[in-house]
Amino acid sequence: MKQFLSVKDVANVHALAEEAIAIKKAPYLPSIGQGKTMGLLFFNPSLRTRLSTQKAASNLGINILSINIKEDAWQLEWQDGTVMDQGNQEHIKDAIRVISQYVDILGVRSFASLTDKEADYAEHIMQQIQSYTDLPMVSLESATLHPLQSLADLITIKEQQIEKPKVVLSWAPHPKALPQAVPNSFAEWMLAAAYDVHIVQPKGYELNNAFTKGATIHYNQEEAFAGADFIYAKNWSSFSTYGKNLQLPNAEKWIINEQKMKLTNNGKFMHCLPIRRNVIASDKVIDDSLVYQQANNRTFSAQVVLKKIVEAL
Ligand code: CP
Repeated sequence: MKQFLSVKDVANVHALAEEAIAIKKAPYLPSIGQGKTMGLLFFNPSLRTRLSTQKAASNLGINILSINIKEDAWQLEWQDGTVMDQGNQEHIKDAIRVISQYVDILGVRSFASLTDKEADYAEHIMQQIQSYTDLPMVSLESATLHPLQSLADLITIKEQQIEKPKVVLSWAPHPKALPQAVPNSFAEWMLAAAYDVHIVQPKGYELNNAFTKGATIHYNQEEAFAGADFIYAKNWSSFSTYGKNLQLPNAEKWIINEQKMKLTNNGKFMHCLPIRRNVIASDKVIDDSLVYQQANNRTFSAQVVLKKIVEAL
């Protein structure tokens, strides 16, 4: 594997998830990545992605160099040709070319601006970084996608051993506007897995259909939840009114609670975390859910991807 930026970098999502499940049974493989180093660049906070990727790398014998760019490094300039006589001290071009001297694989986390739809959906940050390095890049979440999370979600669903499950991605309320990366990515991975994919959201929250084509779209949660095997909750801001939380009357009614879960086929609740308890879903729904299994599978999602990348170096 030369890079892992989206599902398009994966020939067969089922084969990759099954390999991850096999690795989970015997994860300690330190000779595979011996002598290799991975850089983790965080432009945004992370708990799961940082720790699970470090754990995965450690299992493979890969060294990790991790940096919170905004807090630990010089202030970066992103424009080409700028006269850098203001606040920014280092050009991204120089920073990435220097980091590339120290590492063999580069992982990057950046979020959507939620103000510039064109730049976010062109993945300007990832693209610009990639233009300054020849290293294989791994998305630790980008403006529009979170493939390591989606692979962990697919592993978690496969572990339940349900033939062609009904998977429902449900919008849920949140006080702050959030990116569309997790739902975009989840939709495209579930569709690539050829599952029965349903998406339910209030009007105005439709995702970019480049990621959802083939899914059944609903606007009524009860209708969508009927017979579901998995309920994947996530808040996202509007794609059409880009980056905004719409002023919905009764948005809080989209919370996922025990009554709604009873409509499912004994369905399992999933969320990528972090989750705002009793806003996105009730305590009981979260406590009875697959969320910690998903978090655990982040290690094996990262590990199978790093293994494939190291093997292609
Ligand atoms: N799910 C996820 O990516 O969590 P972090 O933001 O904590 O890495």
